[in-house]
Amino acid sequence: PLVLHVLGARPNFVKAAPVVRALDGLGVRQGIVHTGQHYDALMSDVFFADLGLPEPVANLGVGSGSHARQTAALLTGLEEVVLEHGPALVVVYGDVNSTLAAILVCAKLQIPTAHVEAGLRSFDRGMPEEVNRVVTDALSDILFATSPDALSHLSNEGVDPARVHLVGNPMIDSLFSALDRLDPAPVRARLGLPERYGVATLHRPANVDDPAAAKELVDAVLQVSERLPIVVPIHPRGRERLAAAGLVTGGNLLIVDPLGYVDFLSLVRGASLVVTDSGGVQEETTMLGVPCLTVRPNTERPVTVTHGTNRLVTPDLLPAAADKALADGAATPSGELPPLWDGKAGPRIARVIVSWLKGENLSPAS
Ligand code: UD1
Ligand code: UDP
Repeated sequence: PLVLHVLGARPNFVKAAPVVRALDGLGVRQGIVHTGQHYDALMSDVFFADLGLPEPVANLGVGSGSHARQTAALLTGLEEVVLEHGPALVVVYGDVNSTLAAILVCAKLQIPTAHVEAGLRSFDRGMPEEVNRVVTDALSDILFATSPDALSHLSNEGVDPARVHLVGNPMIDSLFSALDRLDPAPVRARLGLPERYGVATLHRPANVDDPAAAKELVDAVLQVSERLPIVVPIHPRGRERLAAAGLVTGGNLLIVDPLGYVDFLSLVRGASLVVTDSGGVQEETTMLGVPCLTVRPNTERPVTVTHGTNRLVTPDLLPAAADKALADGAATPSGELPPLWDGKAGPRIARVIVSWLKGENLSPAS
């Protein structure tokens, strides 16, 4: 039996790598379908190299577009490739449009599916990712949860608990695997950064698409940069709008291209502060014990606040929150990482998949 992983965007690659590696170790036949949602070398190729992911069996090259156009291209491309390969199981990751399209295609073709990172909820339907999460979980046959809160969300939505497995966080597995390679010094030297610095990443539509929101955010980041130098590896989505709002290299601010996985996490590891609106970065800073300020009104990853270093802030409160975070350092509220964030989520997921393939588990809902 063949297992196909459908991947499209930067965070998908990070979550899939440990699952692919663990399935490989168990001798499972598998392949990666790259949808091409992310296609720049710095948004895609560099992750395959840094994470040791195998070459995809297909790249659909769907590229960018409005939600409808991109999802339509994903649906038609994925239907074809799934029919061609005839997988026993399709595995999808996270909450991007590629995830949603793959689950919809497989549900209609009656091909069993597994969703890694099931049950996260921001309860904010204004986020395209929240729509993707709800639909993906409703249609998945096997659901892999990264944190206990996800279990209650799924149960509240009527998902059969027999289909849900709390396995921990494969994004943290990838971080564990890279830990030996995370050295801030050479990346700092290359970028000309001093020893004490902060890192910012911003790409959520709610923050970067609207010029007024972008301006408010940029003003706040500029204020933080008066306290310490800030490097911003800029996601292509925000590049132009944020630059128009004043996020340009100068003074204590350095804007660079997106960084590869190892380079980025090296910088995060050595940072005094991270400012972000990313999902994954909230988790990685929690794991690395680096103070993180998330410029969002909500998070689908509350364990990063209860167990980690993450704080939610509005742009107007960002400068004061940065002062406090810098003064407090890296103390975490509970002193413990979230349950099962131990670098072994990939093997747990692989074991469930293998027993499912052997027909040993509860068969997925038909
Ligand atoms: C997508 C995900 C988001 C995730 C993010 C991770 C959806 C709905 N959103 O957002 O959840 O946090 O990926 O990075 O799936 N672009 C390039 N080069 C690329 C890719 C994109 O220039 O390789 C530019 C294009 O102008 C494109 C824009 O970025 O229109 C947005 O790309 P898209 O994949 O639609 O969404 P993201 O904002 O990247
Ligand atoms: N990341 C990276 N280089 C960067 C910015 C982020 O390697 O310049 C990594 C980050 O460490 C995490 C993943 O990309 O592993 C998160 O992707 P992103 O923030 O784009 O998406 P989200 O998690 O918000 O969906």
